Amino acid sequence: MKAVRFDHYGDVDVLDVRDVDDPVAAPGQVVVKVRAAAANPGDIYVREGLAEQAWALRARLSGRASDTPLPSMTFPAGQGTDLAGQIVAVGAGVERWHVGDDVLGWSDERVSHAELVAVAADHLVTKPAGMSWEVAGSMYVAPMAALASVETVSPAPGETIVVSGAAGAVGVVAVQLARRTGAAVIGLTSQANHAWMRDHGITPVTYGDGQAARIRSAAGGRVDAFIDTFGADYVDLAHELGVPAKRVNTVVDFHAALDGRAGIAGTNDAGGAAGLQHLVDLVATGELDIPIAATYPLTNVRKAYQLVAERRTHGKIVLVP
Ligand SMILES: NC(=O)c1ccc[n+]([C@@H]2O[C@H](COP(=O)([O-])OP(=O)(O)OC[C@H]3O[C@@H](n4cnc5c(N)ncnc54)[C@H](OP(=O)(O)O)[C@@H]3O)[C@@H](O)[C@H]2O)c1
Repeated sequence: MKAVRFDHYGDVDVLDVRDVDDPVAAPGQVVVKVRAAAANPGDIYVREGLAEQAWALRARLSGRASDTPLPSMTFPAGQGTDLAGQIVAVGAGVERWHVGDDVLGWSDERVSHAELVAVAADHLVTKPAGMSWEVAGSMYVAPMAALASVETVSPAPGETIVVSGAAGAVGVVAVQLARRTGAAVIGLTSQANHAWMRDHGITPVTYGDGQAARIRSAAGGRVDAFIDTFGADYVDLAHELGVPAKRVNTVVDFHAALDGRAGIAGTNDAGGAAGLQHLVDLVATGELDIPIAATYPLTNVRKAYQLVAERRTHGKIVLVP
């Protein structure tokens, strides 16, 4: 099969698509023929060699031994967590899945950017028939980080919550899930994404100079909770707006969490397959919109990650093997 591999840490040029041995379904696993697998900014941190430090810090902060560890990097390394496709082989002990089932889920081994992937049977849920492959292959990393963030700051009717990076892959889900709680939601975006926000019941506010005043004006006073999906100084902004630390969550700024200024609930805190099933049900019933910014064939993996690195896209960038 063809799969993305890289031999050492580096920029996008280290990524290759190579012929490698087909994976085999170990006991408890299935092999999925991948139809779509999203690209995520986290893959860039891993490829650049920055993730192990961040993961160690996060594990220390969460204090949970059960946190999914970053597999120690061995080279050549694979890439990719999100996946959707069709089951082509079933390992010993797997009762739930059969060859031909359409599924979506995630790879803890970070090897989903490939034509085939061996994946734990309990990391999958059924792909609804009406869901596109691109959306199905984008349902784990970003939407689950959004779900964990919203659950952590738990907005309520009558409250106002602000989401930074609101137009990004985590942000678009966070604003919609927050809105479903009955809270008023302010999304920090560039002008280009204001219309999408309004269409989804979100009040858009342009980020940049003067944003605190614009947010106060849009909120009509108080801001109760803040979700940071971008990093930079957004945790500081949350505190400037008077939001207490326990109602601030960041999926990026682990140092703010180390200082006790924010929570750091992320993808691994959203309840695994049960959390994923909840999100899939919302998409299937039309209650959650997952925008797709672009799709690329696997052979264009470098181009896809150049685009991810620019941090300008609205929604997911997806590889289609
Ligand atoms: N801890 C976890 O479990 C976890 C899980 C998933 C992701 N993450 C992290 O979360 C971050 C977001 O991921 P993502 O996939 O959502 O990224 P993304 O889709 O690449 O985000 C792109 C968005 O960032 C926005 N943006 C750019 N500059 C901004 C600024 N100065 N202020 C506010 N927004 C700005 C852009 O919106 P405009 O076009 O409107 O400017 C664009 O829509 C990444 O750092 C990722 O690694 C963490």
